[in-house]
Amino acid sequence: MGSSANTETNGNGAPPSSNQKPPVTNGGDASHPPPPSALDQAIIESDPSKKRKMGMLPLEVGTRVMCRWRDGKHHPVKVIERRRIHNGGPNDYEYYVHYTEFNRRLDEWTQLDQLDLDSVECAVDEKVEDKVTSLKMTRHQKRKIDETHVEGHEELDAASLREHEEFTKVKNIATIELGKYEIETWYFSPFPPEYNECVKLFFCEFCLNFMKRKEQLQRHMRKCDLKHPPGDEIYRSGTLSMFEVDGKKNKVYAQNLCYLAKLFLDHKTLYYDVDLFLFYVLCECDDRGCHMVGYFSKEKHSEEAYNLACILTLPPYQRKGYGKFLIAFSYELSKKEGKVGTPERPLSDLGLLSYRGYWTRVLLDILKKHKGNISIKELSDMTAIKAEDILSTLQSLELIQYRKGQHVICADPKVLDRHLKAAGRGGLDVDVSKLIWTPYRDQS
Ligand code: ACO
Ligand code: ZN
Repeated sequence: MGSSANTETNGNGAPPSSNQKPPVTNGGDASHPPPPSALDQAIIESDPSKKRKMGMLPLEVGTRVMCRWRDGKHHPVKVIERRRIHNGGPNDYEYYVHYTEFNRRLDEWTQLDQLDLDSVECAVDEKVEDKVTSLKMTRHQKRKIDETHVEGHEELDAASLREHEEFTKVKNIATIELGKYEIETWYFSPFPPEYNECVKLFFCEFCLNFMKRKEQLQRHMRKCDLKHPPGDEIYRSGTLSMFEVDGKKNKVYAQNLCYLAKLFLDHKTLYYDVDLFLFYVLCECDDRGCHMVGYFSKEKHSEEAYNLACILTLPPYQRKGYGKFLIAFSYELSKKEGKVGTPERPLSDLGLLSYRGYWTRVLLDILKKHKGNISIKELSDMTAIKAEDILSTLQSLELIQYRKGQHVICADPKVLDRHLKAAGRGGLDVDVSKLIWTPYRDQS
């Protein structure tokens, strides 16, 4: 799997606040810094340790060093990129770092005073040429960008993972405004080139059009007559609604959704072919309209039995059970189709945690209630969960034994209870009686 298995334990997985950044020079050649100033020279002469440290500056891309994080502690990082600080001295750079213990969503620009120069590891483990090559897109990368829908791709091999990380290494958009929330982004998203210089984007929360300036959004909001996602409302229970949006019928909305979603999804490629997908957009509704909480996309026809391509809960709504609701919903659709399903791979760290939690709860609830033997095939028929996912879940819980050439489920009620407790909360329930839906049928 391409994504890192690290999960930070401090809350909802949101990235650290990206503090106000000093403006940077665009024209300066970061790889050839000017010589130290007279003042720097004087400091260097008077203190040998400082002299050694100043000699390291500016740090090379690829340097490994300890960096003070938002928890106040130092963590190992790798320098991914650097840029000159506008009006700063010759060695005044800020550094974009990857915390090697954490997921890439926590990558951020840091100031020199956050870095512990005593911990600098001399060997720069990557060739500096990497930096230069990163600026030139390969044809393969261009193709990826020229296609539009955010969609999962096959398991990433080491080379394509490196290529992906190189090309998307620095977040472009730092924050977005969406409805009443200002949200810090997690990853790079390939917005059209005219947005290259933007660090903040303003989204209309209903049609998902995005703009460079707040005034543009305010003007747009006076004209925009949408108060909910386009498409059919296929589920309503209390204040929760689900809309089904056909990517072919609502192309611009679907593309906007993909640009937005990519800001929070790492190992996904952006394809422009939204026609092939349906988007299930979950909303919390009030008298001002239906506010998007999250969504999942689903191929209209999947040869690999995928019942979900991408899933996202927007950060302000995470860890409230919406993710498990979306997952449960995707399986309810599969049940209505009379098919088993599985999410597209690779799963992200948070995706895997959410799926594992969902599978564990659903399967153990059945095993607890069930009297007598039950096979994996029967479990799969009851839940629409693919047999391989059932097997891997039960194996990871050590509930499977291999006896006389067969997998046997060993379900001691006490062990089941222990696992159920560890599986966390169940998430919001899908009330199937409120789902009004027929499987997609190609009209052409
Ligand atoms: N730290 C630790 N555990 C977490 C975290 C976290 N930050 N976030 C979720 N989990 C685990 C927990 O076990 C949680 O259950 P609990 O709260 O009962 O302990 C479980 O995952 C799911 O919690 P939910 O509240 O139901 O899910 P949420 O609404 O937060 O959405 C999701 C989960 C969709 C994966 C969300 O984290 C997200 O949008 N992440 C960014 C996009 C992403 O990675 N999507 C999956 C990609 S894979 C694919 O698309 C096929
Ligand atoms: Zn709008």
